Order: sequence, then C-alpha cells, then structure tokens
Amino acid sequence: MEKWKDYNGELVNISTLSDPIVRCIEEANNQLDMAYAPYSNFFVGAAALLDNGKIYTGCNQENASYPLCICAERVALYNIGTQEKDFYIQALAITAHNPNKRLDSPCMPCGACRQVIQEFEHRQNRPITLYLTSKNSPIIRINGIESLLPVSFSKNDLL
Ligand code: THU
Repeated sequence: MEKWKDYNGELVNISTLSDPIVRCIEEANNQLDMAYAPYSNFFVGAAALLDNGKIYTGCNQENASYPLCICAERVALYNIGTQEKDFYIQALAITAHNPNKRLDSPCMPCGACRQVIQEFEHRQNRPITLYLTSKNSPIIRINGIESLLPVSFSKNDLL
C-alpha cells in the first residue's frame, strides 16, 4: 500500500504546500473533466508549474485504435515543449479518477511517461518534483524521476 515510500515518496498535507503548488494540483484535477477516456474509463489529469508561474495542463486522449492513446503527462509536457523555449518545470501534478473503481492510491506515471519526464529533466538540467494523487488518495511527493526510473536509457547513451 505504501510502496511509494521505497521510491523516495513522502506523504504531504495540502495545507503545507505553497499557493502555486496547490493551484497546480487543482489544475490537474480540473483536467479530469477534459480527459477523453471512453474505453478505459480511467481519467487522468496533469499540470506542470513553471518557475515563471505559468501552468501547462494535459489529460489523456484515447482513440478507438488503442495504441494511439496518449497519456495526460505527455500532453502537458509536450505542450510546454511547443510553447516555451527555455523552461524550468518546478512541479508536475498527476491525478486520476475511475468512475467504476475507487482509487485509494495515487496515480503513478506509466513507464513511457517516466521516460519522457526524464527527458524534460535533462532538458532543464534539474529534477521535477512530482505530486501524485487521485480522487480518493493522499498526495505523495517524489523529488525527481530517478527513483522511478533507475538505470535508465537516456541521452547519455547517445551523445
Ligand atoms: N494514463 C495516463 O494518462 N497516464 C498514466 O500515467 C497512466 C495511464 C491513461 C492512458 C489511458 O488513456 C488510460 O490512462 C488507461 O491506461
């Protein structure tokens, strides 16, 4: 149940978080209404807070051709990639809701999204603090993607 503890995760109380971080988590929650998930019924929202105060959001977009589905995190991050030249993402909030199943634990980013989060960390040369939650779960903070993607493939293998 508390397996996230093994990956540098810590439980955080929302009342201890700064206003911009709370707003970022709220924006991720707002994205649940925009998610298009008629096949899985697993609605995911993501929001990324930049150091300039801007928040970029995303939600999962499914397709009848299942492999074309894209996750909320990647929509949010690629949105930044298309709009900002030099960016510093302080925080990425991820949340989920499934009307058919009570989610008691926070939504963890899938493997593909972990790889993309790592790429964005490398682009900005700094880790991104993750705030992971779901409709009925507490908020877990994990500082950087490394503990969730150990011994990874990265630009260091190519350049
Ligand atoms: N999904 C996300 O958006 N992010 C994740 O990290 C986990 C999975 C989406 C993809 C698909 O639309 C649905 O959740 C079920 O896998």
